[in-house]
Amino acid sequence: MEKRTFPKDFVWGTATASYQIEGAVREDGRGESIWDRYCSIPGNVRRNDTGEVACDHYHRYKEDVALMKQLGMKAYRFSVAWTRILPKGRGEINEKGIRFYSDLVDELLSAGIEPYITLYHWDLPQALQDIGGWANPEMPGYFLEFSRIVFDRLGDRVKHWMTLNEPYCAAFLGNYEGRMAPGLHDFSTAVLAAYHMYVGHGLVVKDFRENHREGEIGIALNLMGRLPLTQDEKNLAAAKRADGYLNRWFIEPIVKGEYPKDMIELYRSKGVVLPEFRKEDLALISQKLDFIALNYYNDFWVKEDKSRWPLEFVIENPPHMPETDRSWPITEEGFTNMLLRMKNEYGVDNIFISENGASYHDVVNMEGKVVDNARCDFLRRHVIALHKAIQEGVNVRGYFVWSLYDNFEWAEGYDSRFGIVHIDFGTQKRTIKESGYWYSNLIAQNAVE
Ligand code: FCB
Repeated sequence: MEKRTFPKDFVWGTATASYQIEGAVREDGRGESIWDRYCSIPGNVRRNDTGEVACDHYHRYKEDVALMKQLGMKAYRFSVAWTRILPKGRGEINEKGIRFYSDLVDELLSAGIEPYITLYHWDLPQALQDIGGWANPEMPGYFLEFSRIVFDRLGDRVKHWMTLNEPYCAAFLGNYEGRMAPGLHDFSTAVLAAYHMYVGHGLVVKDFRENHREGEIGIALNLMGRLPLTQDEKNLAAAKRADGYLNRWFIEPIVKGEYPKDMIELYRSKGVVLPEFRKEDLALISQKLDFIALNYYNDFWVKEDKSRWPLEFVIENPPHMPETDRSWPITEEGFTNMLLRMKNEYGVDNIFISENGASYHDVVNMEGKVVDNARCDFLRRHVIALHKAIQEGVNVRGYFVWSLYDNFEWAEGYDSRFGIVHIDFGTQKRTIKESGYWYSNLIAQNAVE
């Protein structure tokens, strides 16, 4: 078998997010987040699961860090819950909330694991949603206020930061498709929310630079191919719109300081209310970042569907594709392609993979093992695809598997398992899956076969 070695100092890690693993939602002064509220409404989440206990990481973080150390992780990407630090979203600081993250950071560092923090991974304080959430023009300022506290308290030890995780999902799935918190169905609100997230991102990056905070800062975007189901003109145009919706609307303001004109025109023609796109906002949004982090899962195919306002497309994959249990096709060549596109089309010269992974219905067998061959194969394909992109000149500095643990997978609840470590949600027993051992071995070798 061919052995493909990665650059020296390549960062191998794993990723999680606060609401998905912490639990302890009412403990130590934590305030209510939009995900607590969303989960409390029957029918929003599969089986009406909630993040109330999740992986109980809030109480078990020491054990969890020890497990990461055992696996040889070099880095750990996690997010901070805004509501632990500012229970009402702004104003008074909850010291116990800060203390949790500070202790976690110390624990990681003493285990030799580098912390990478995401400031916003979707758990907005409900108190801020009550005044309009991200659609409120004051939100960028509140996000800055929160981020500054985190920088002040953890910045002495944490050197790698991501402002937002997947603003596409937070804005559009949350405010238009309603498949995520806050569960709204309004396209104009979603566009405005996405815009304010970006202004907030810009303010935070500016503050980071102006206050000479040490380390590096970037953003985590989910960019994934949107391919025409057939080469027919209608489907080619539909795929371009789908790409504009998911990819170009998010990468272009960051790297070019402008929103895609064809999408602006399309939205206007459909009666969507758009933000003003002020020059000073665009300058903030397009400040040079230290890196752009990519969350990659899979490409999708699209075809025209005139009945779908305002974008007029639907996802439809070719028949009989190999896929994971979410009906997500396995498209590792799309991973290489997206990395090449980031470099060649957008000039991104510093990249982390902040998420990549697969959901399967894993079981613990009679010997107490989780034999997840399909996930091992998925990860292997994607790590090889990543290696290929690096060989072709893309500067990728690290890779974070999604996820360390099976966890609260948003609207899918606990049914969708992405972990390289299995969680028994009844007993909280952690069992390293075969993919966990496989990944650990890859890290030790800094190479994939
Ligand atoms: C991404 C999210 C992450 C996780 C994976 C499966 O969209 O960033 O929290 O849910 O999908």
